[in-house]
Amino acid sequence: MPAIYAYAPGKIILTGEHAVVYGQPAIAAPVNEVRARAAIEADPTDPSGKVKILASDIGLDTSLEKLPADHPISTVFREVQQELGIDHLPAMTLTITSTIPIAAGLGSGAAISVAVSRALSSFLGSPLSEEAVSRIAFETDRFYHGTPSGIDNSVISYGRMIYFTRGQPLEILNNAEALTLVIADSGEKSLTGKVVHNLRTQIEIDPQRFDPILEKIGSLSQSARNAIEQGDVKQLGGLLNDNHFLLQQLGVSSANLDLLVRISREAGALGAKLSGAGCGGNMLALVQPADAEGVAAALLSAGAVNTITTTIPKSS
Ligand code: PMV
Repeated sequence: MPAIYAYAPGKIILTGEHAVVYGQPAIAAPVNEVRARAAIEADPTDPSGKVKILASDIGLDTSLEKLPADHPISTVFREVQQELGIDHLPAMTLTITSTIPIAAGLGSGAAISVAVSRALSSFLGSPLSEEAVSRIAFETDRFYHGTPSGIDNSVISYGRMIYFTRGQPLEILNNAEALTLVIADSGEKSLTGKVVHNLRTQIEIDPQRFDPILEKIGSLSQSARNAIEQGDVKQLGGLLNDNHFLLQQLGVSSANLDLLVRISREAGALGAKLSGAGCGGNMLALVQPADAEGVAAALLSAGAVNTITTTIPKSS
């Protein structure tokens, strides 16, 4: 039997991170230049039903039975088996590879869960729907994030730009113009669960200060949606700048992120902001395609450790 392969892209949050945890809308897009891949091969000569797991990018060389029950990979297996009503697994080797940087706000954990859910369900003969895959990835995101909003698993499972509000049906966004983004890694590791937890503590202490900021971010996401649907890329750039300012007020930026945002604007970006949990991790700059190379070079000279240029194609 040939190996089964499945893939999942990285992701980037355009607007609304953090506010999305508190019920405000947010916009996210897939980043297809990086991806996670899961390959499953049957081990027909192994009668033990052993599931070998090889994932050198995340330091795993083990078997399913040796993983803790709350490990994301164990969770994916349990959830897929439950969804398909399958008790016993045939012997197999699962190999996971990923080019998505870890702990940088690009959704590496959710992408691995999505790729493994797809590969395993196909291997077992019943490929799961996007909705089911997204739900499973949400369960595993709890392991990394504690209280995820659900935006990462949704954008990665559907592979389209989305307008996401917690607890409401997902909306696929149609963009009237292509969007070119330069994403830069500040080189500072950011642990989403920790940043979200610290912010929650502050919000609980001083809701009068923080609630209006979260609401402003929510209405900014609505305006960004309109700009995207109308193809007003310049207006979208301005909204990204405003979003960065509001994230600074939430206290989730860093000196490095602020520097990269400023440098990219000086190099001609239409707008720029941190992206994801903040306190390190990534930032993004919205650029005219002709400026992408110059902005990426300026970001690298200013200390970014890596850049990815991605284009969200115009919706057909
Ligand atoms: O750090 P990231 O990109 O995985 O995402 C964090 C986004 C938050 O809004 C801060 C948290 C969440 O669960 O939505």
